[in-house]
Amino acid sequence: MSQSPDASAPDASVPGAPAAGPAESAPARPPRRVRVHHLRQAKERGEPLTMLTAYDGVTAAIFDEAGIDVLLVGDSIGNTMHGHETTIPVTVDDMIPAVRAVARAARRALVVADLPFGSYEASPAQCHAAAVRMMKEGGAHAVKFEGGAHLAEHVRLLTRSGIPVFGHLGFTPQAENLLGGKRVQGRGHEAAERLVGDALALADAGAVAVVLEMVPAPVAARVTEVLPVPTIGIGAGPTCDGQVLVWTDIAGMTSWSPRFARRFGDVGAELARAARGYGEAVRDRSFPGPEHTFEQ
Ligand code: KIV
Repeated sequence: MSQSPDASAPDASVPGAPAAGPAESAPARPPRRVRVHHLRQAKERGEPLTMLTAYDGVTAAIFDEAGIDVLLVGDSIGNTMHGHETTIPVTVDDMIPAVRAVARAARRALVVADLPFGSYEASPAQCHAAAVRMMKEGGAHAVKFEGGAHLAEHVRLLTRSGIPVFGHLGFTPQAENLLGGKRVQGRGHEAAERLVGDALALADAGAVAVVLEMVPAPVAARVTEVLPVPTIGIGAGPTCDGQVLVWTDIAGMTSWSPRFARRFGDVGAELARAARGYGEAVRDRSFPGPEHTFEQ
């Protein structure tokens, strides 16, 4: 966890690390990479983990610099960036360039690549092949896929192969046709028990964290309590070990965002202001000025 050659020294730049001692006049080192063991340490210390989606190098570098622990190249790229209504049309080939750009830009954050619909469900071998592409061609540090105990063998094979897996339970967007739309999952005793069992099965198979999407807060709290690995909530209440949101929702890029998301900025409006200003300056010929122009 240390940035120094002494691996036992504390490094406050990663989650779960003890606070650093007094600053010394050493040259600045690159930040130390967040690793999967830091996630578990953060849970043990009660330090909330931060995770955001990213789909390109520009935003990934900004989020990384802002200290976000985990960058998820989500298959939400389908509806946020590629103009689809759902994540279902997204392919591994769609994902790879985005994963590559995010992985190249992130100096500290752990980069997680989503396995898209149709790329992993059929067998552990299919899942392994898709995950290997994300790691080899994309440079991801981990993969995430949606589903519970029935995918435990998939998780086991990947873990045995050295590929860290994030699970994803609750509302799983790739199954929205089966689930009857975007609906809270885990309501009622039986459904809650099933969710807890699924989470335990994934952790037992080797999952390093489990995302809980649109799950009642008390159910997410129970999963968080029984699971040895971190839960990362999205619409799952405040007791999860970490939180994840889609970046366009936190930045105010769209007129609508889900109830569980909070807008922390108005980047969309600011971008529109910049584009309008540029358009006006080109039209009235105030841009480019002499300072932007080369002499012969
Ligand atoms: O694809 C995605 O953005 C996700 C988050 C909603 C967790 O899976």
